Amino acid sequence: MSIRLHRRLSLSTIRRQVVGINQKVPIYNGQRIPYVNFDNAASTPTLKPVLESILDFLPWYSGVHRGSGYKSVISTATYDAARIQIAQFFGADPDYHVVIFGKNTTEAINLLADRLQFEPGDMVLTTLMEHHSNDLPWRRVAKVVRAEVDAKGALDEQDLEKKLTLYHRRIKLVAISGASNVTGWINDIHRIAALAHNYGIPIMVDGAQLAPHRAINLLPPSDPAHVDFLAISGHKLYAPFGTGVLIGPRPVFERGSPRYVGGGTVSLVTPLGVEWATPPAKDEAGSPNVIGVIALATALTVLEELGLDKIEHHEQSLIDYALGKFGRIPGLKIYGSTQPQDVNRLGVMSFELEGYHHVLVAGLLAFYGGIGVRSGCFCAQPYIQRLLGLDGTALARLRHDLYTGKARHLPGLVRISFGMYNSPEELDRLVEALQVILSYSPRYWQEQLVWDDSLECYIPRDKRFTLGIEPIS
Ligand SMILES: Cc1ncc(COP(=O)(O)O)c(C=O)c1O
Repeated sequence: MSIRLHRRLSLSTIRRQVVGINQKVPIYNGQRIPYVNFDNAASTPTLKPVLESILDFLPWYSGVHRGSGYKSVISTATYDAARIQIAQFFGADPDYHVVIFGKNTTEAINLLADRLQFEPGDMVLTTLMEHHSNDLPWRRVAKVVRAEVDAKGALDEQDLEKKLTLYHRRIKLVAISGASNVTGWINDIHRIAALAHNYGIPIMVDGAQLAPHRAINLLPPSDPAHVDFLAISGHKLYAPFGTGVLIGPRPVFERGSPRYVGGGTVSLVTPLGVEWATPPAKDEAGSPNVIGVIALATALTVLEELGLDKIEHHEQSLIDYALGKFGRIPGLKIYGSTQPQDVNRLGVMSFELEGYHHVLVAGLLAFYGGIGVRSGCFCAQPYIQRLLGLDGTALARLRHDLYTGKARHLPGLVRISFGMYNSPEELDRLVEALQVILSYSPRYWQEQLVWDDSLECYIPRDKRFTLGIEPIS
């Protein structure tokens, strides 16, 4: 059973294909207004074609690689075909690469950290702009060296090159994000790959942010600019059904033993010994998330049909529109590129509104504007600390204030992030909401909201507001 879309799709009408696009949400006075989602960098909504392909498949669903019934056979064939399709989407060679399914990018990177068999003294070269998921896993297994960023938060490639030259004998891997989830800066992954390969060092790209917005091609292994490993998350690619992917050279996963062991990972088990299965089965312990994999393969089919070049063009026009509007809002400071038509950035924009705490701004946008954004450090604390110019003394004071209860929040920013379906009209609503916020003092707003410890956000004090989820029928 192969993945087939029910209809032709085009970017200009893709909004209609977004599940929940017309969803209304309550605001401070109990009124319900259509939700604007500018938090796509965290997670994207799903698409009708993705749901349809799941519904098409579900009558045939059964366990994969385990049963001999017709449904099992069909399920296995569909699952395996989806794996090949996902490999092809990223330019992977099914004979050379292996595509391993897991939960998300975080799990994929942790798996790689475990499977690369680091020796004492080994280093991983990463950057200061990484998500925690591309920093913390490496700290466990190696010494982490980070390439610097410049004043606008872009990668300092010269520093990366310098550190590569200096430590190449010890560096076992270069681990770099395809694009930042804070500033949207895009890294030149192929240029960096070529630099690393000069020293025979492989490169892993954290593609969580880049993949929904730009075509990623691993390139053939014979190309000096090829990418060795790629990690991505389905929920950032319009397929929020719990699947992530790690792609890498098969021989790496043929060596050693898997991180998780159990059903599916073996070819022979005796009371005294075990023979591991071949990759990818070896690294996919337990029954796999077949539905999540089909969802992801369908979402990638949709992106292919729409054209990533068209998506890039549309999102670039949203960025330029936002930059033009934001430039006229007093006290709004964007961190990252403010240059229109900058092809080196994605539609991920972090900013501060002078005098207004980032958590307060996010709460007001949610409950006065019906707009979903994110605030804080976006799981990239070292990067945010650098962008905000927090030195060692400031961080020590912050740690003390957090421990002693004097501070509730870390310093941070407000982030908006676009998906391919967002529109300029939605940006107008954001700008309008920011203007309303600015027309009252932070103190006034502080009194309108109350902090909810369990939800970890502000909610309206107004009694007309109720936080209720509509029953699912
Ligand atoms: C650049 C980057 N890397 C890794 C991750 C982690 O992704 P996940 O939460 O899907 O594991 C994220 C999530 O926001 C991200 O933006």
